[in-house]
Amino acid sequence: MDERLAQDFLPLRTADGSLTLRSELLGEQYHSVHGAVQESTHVFIKAGLEHIGKPQVDVLEVGLGTGLNLLLTWVRCLEGKCLVRYTALEPHPVSLGLLVELDHCADLAWPGLHDPFLERMTENRDGWWEPMGGLAFRQLAIPVQDFHERDAFDLVYFDAFGPGTQQEMWTLEVFQRMHAALRPGGVLVTYCAKGQVRRNLQAAGFVVERLPGPPGKREMLRATR
Ligand SMILES: C[S@@+](CC[C@H](N)C(=O)[O-])C[C@H]1O[C@@H](n2cnc3c(N)ncnc32)[C@H](O)[C@@H]1O
Repeated sequence: MDERLAQDFLPLRTADGSLTLRSELLGEQYHSVHGAVQESTHVFIKAGLEHIGKPQVDVLEVGLGTGLNLLLTWVRCLEGKCLVRYTALEPHPVSLGLLVELDHCADLAWPGLHDPFLERMTENRDGWWEPMGGLAFRQLAIPVQDFHERDAFDLVYFDAFGPGTQQEMWTLEVFQRMHAALRPGGVLVTYCAKGQVRRNLQAAGFVVERLPGPPGKREMLRATR
């Protein structure tokens, strides 16, 4: 995505009261306008993390963005439900100023996560942050197209902008990479249920389920290696 367009996003309140970022130029936002927290919880936490149901989970997120999926996962860890090693890919990090404006930690009523969350989101660190509250974290500033790890993850949160905005994220080649990055039995979840996306996932070797989507979306996809 063009760096100029990546700078065009501004906060927008969604229908469940939580904030996201929206670009008028692109006609695109980081989450559903029907509810950012609601969508992330439905697609990534319930259909992904809770479905996996393992005590220790290696998560790969494609598109860290505002860090909402990271925070929702961290809260599950703090509640004692699992331990997570969280790897996030983000070539266009959201600025500290916007993260402060969004204030996801206040929305989720976990103000104690505010400082550690912002540190992890914005510090340019090579490698892992030590586990805190059951979650270890690393952020890689590389595009998914350059990600080469294999047999390393139980769960992929595939949270790219939609195919209408970034078609290059939803290709057979990218899904082959995701298939290789997962361990056998590993799962990829995404909010997008487009027919071509489903067919590309199947061609990459996944078994794909169509599940009911969050409010405002009929379906979402879960793909198992
Ligand atoms: C829908 S937003 C992610 C929302 C995010 N998960 C959140 O909770 O805020 C898509 C993200 O993908 C990132 N992105 C764009 N190109 C990418 C690429 N080639 N590889 C990985 N991420 C990319 C964008 O910068 C953006 O932050």
